[in-house]
Amino acid sequence: MRIEDYAGPEELKRLASAFMTVVLGLMVLALFVFIVVPGMRSAGAPAAGEGGAPLGANGWLDPVEVPAAKGYRIPPVDPKTLLTPTAQLLARGSELFARDCAQCHGALGRGDGPAARTLTSAPRDFTRPEGWKNGTGLPAMFKTLSAGIPGSAMAAFDTLTPKDRMAVIHHLRAFAAFERRPEDPAALAELAKIFASSSVAVPNRIPLSLALRKLEEEYRTPAPLSLSPASARLIRDPARAAAWLQASPAWRKSPAALAERACAGAPANGFAVSAAVLDAESWRGLYAELSKGGRR
Ligand code: HEC
Repeated sequence: MRIEDYAGPEELKRLASAFMTVVLGLMVLALFVFIVVPGMRSAGAPAAGEGGAPLGANGWLDPVEVPAAKGYRIPPVDPKTLLTPTAQLLARGSELFARDCAQCHGALGRGDGPAARTLTSAPRDFTRPEGWKNGTGLPAMFKTLSAGIPGSAMAAFDTLTPKDRMAVIHHLRAFAAFERRPEDPAALAELAKIFASSSVAVPNRIPLSLALRKLEEEYRTPAPLSLSPASARLIRDPARAAAWLQASPAWRKSPAALAERACAGAPANGFAVSAAVLDAESWRGLYAELSKGGRR
């Protein structure tokens, strides 16, 4: 039984051409669905990197890009305002405790925060008198926050200003349901001296992209040196020497420092081994030229 038994050649031709029409139609439809329509929908949308959040060099959103900000100093504080808990200090302390401490020490200071189970040494339970390594006095706790407890998960919180450190200390002392020994006056005086003398410098901040650009500039291969004939005798490979000089700035101290370091690293650093026998005068000449940038 063959298809010719049912349809004549004319009929078959018509069937084939109808089939081709359907296939072509489907192809045109697919072209529209997958290419033309999506293209029209995204027409007018900003291209990647335009407007909105800044894109890093790798095309990913860059969440750490921050605007530039000028640095400033936080002036020293009057110790008297920090050694006793005020409502203002306690409010600030409570805020900081929730932000920086509660995940380990627990919202109520019992050493049972959600992160505590993951630690090898248990966070201090502030409601109990035993086990304190630095102690429960104000100066002792200030030391804990400034230096951390070495060998444990208790990190230094020296990024908090001294005032913030005292605020959080007053807050967590409110958890303690035990008798505290009176403060040691000498230690308190020492602490007061720290507050009165330390102003806190907040450094300038530049955007990450600018910082990266500056780093890149710093590490860019320097141009090879071009020196007077007298100085050029000391150098075997000007390009290497230029890279070495940029990477080890200690030579800038003095001509003697330059001579010592250059000879110790020769010939790998681009200096001639024979430079070792030259006199101080030659090194002073080279030093003077390099200090001006090593360009003629
Ligand atoms: C990552 C977890 C973690 C965080 C966050 C944390 N701590 Fe601790 N803390 C510990 C651990 C663990 C110890 C116990 C260290 C030990 O005894 O070796 C400890 C101990 C202490 C002690 C007792 C020191 C002593 O004398 O024994 C104080 C006080 C303290 N933390 C205050 C704070 C304050 C205030 C904050 C928030 C600014 C904070 N901690 C944040 C884990 C943490």
